[in-house]
Amino acid sequence: MQSKIKKAIFPIAGLGSRFLPATKTLAKEMLIVLDRPILEWAVIEASMSGIEEMIFVTSSKKNSIIEHFNRSLELENLLKKKKKNNQISSVQSQSELGKFTYVIQDEPKGLGHAVWCAKRFIEKNENFVVMLPDDIILSKKPVIAQMLKIHEKTSGGSVLALEKVSKKEVFKYGVIDFTKKKDNFYQIKNLVEKPHPSKAPSNLTVVGRYILNYKVFDLLEKQKKGHGNEIQLTDSLISLIEKPGLYGLEFDGNRYDCGNKLGFIEANVNFGLKDKNISKNLRNLLRKI
Ligand code: G1P
Repeated sequence: MQSKIKKAIFPIAGLGSRFLPATKTLAKEMLIVLDRPILEWAVIEASMSGIEEMIFVTSSKKNSIIEHFNRSLELENLLKKKKKNNQISSVQSQSELGKFTYVIQDEPKGLGHAVWCAKRFIEKNENFVVMLPDDIILSKKPVIAQMLKIHEKTSGGSVLALEKVSKKEVFKYGVIDFTKKKDNFYQIKNLVEKPHPSKAPSNLTVVGRYILNYKVFDLLEKQKKGHGNEIQLTDSLISLIEKPGLYGLEFDGNRYDCGNKLGFIEANVNFGLKDKNISKNLRNLLRKI
């Protein structure tokens, strides 16, 4: 019997330069999709999948994130006075999503470095989740929960979420090479970060959801620079192939890349179309465009 996966690391120290000037003072992760920050959607997904501790690898300039996931008694009292009871629970719910831990990444040295910054919160041999909140996903069953199933089936294997993209798009992602395939489930034999389409081993790309083993820190520790002269998480995943095994799951659901303007707007439209209060009017509005 494997022990339950309880912790998720959220690398959120990035500058958000693609969204300047909005991100001059506002953390990119606090940009709103429908009625809550991008980051909250990812934390909800983790919490609904049974994750208990959210480890934010953040920068010292993003205090609004800490405030958002704390209770605000002042605001709650104000809403109480105004008898806005529905809204009280909506502002209390964030702090109930789990235990929050913060660690500062002092320099933007890459995704691999960000994950490494959280090493001291993970125990030897422990399995844990990494979530990149830029990728938000609409699905019936939370994607992390779908991946945990594969983790169990493979007796503790590491698991990556995958999505097929057109070959010319592969240069934006980590891309896998695989040996075996069963339905939407793959055994990974190699990975490359952001390859040129002519050199990509497949068109199966890594989405920002990972179940990893502590062993990944062995390579991350070496802090070797890869693509873009940054320490890449993808490069260190190779150490998981032999043991505990590295698997990929083409998940059920639609992923929106909130790391760029078009994906962010696409996310807002699709989350709006799922919202019972505005979906009808939004549909009418879109028809008119
Ligand atoms: C990161 C990873 C990449 C992955 C992508 C998913 O890239 O390095 O392997 O495919 O997230 O969103 P980034 O989007 O930070 O450039």
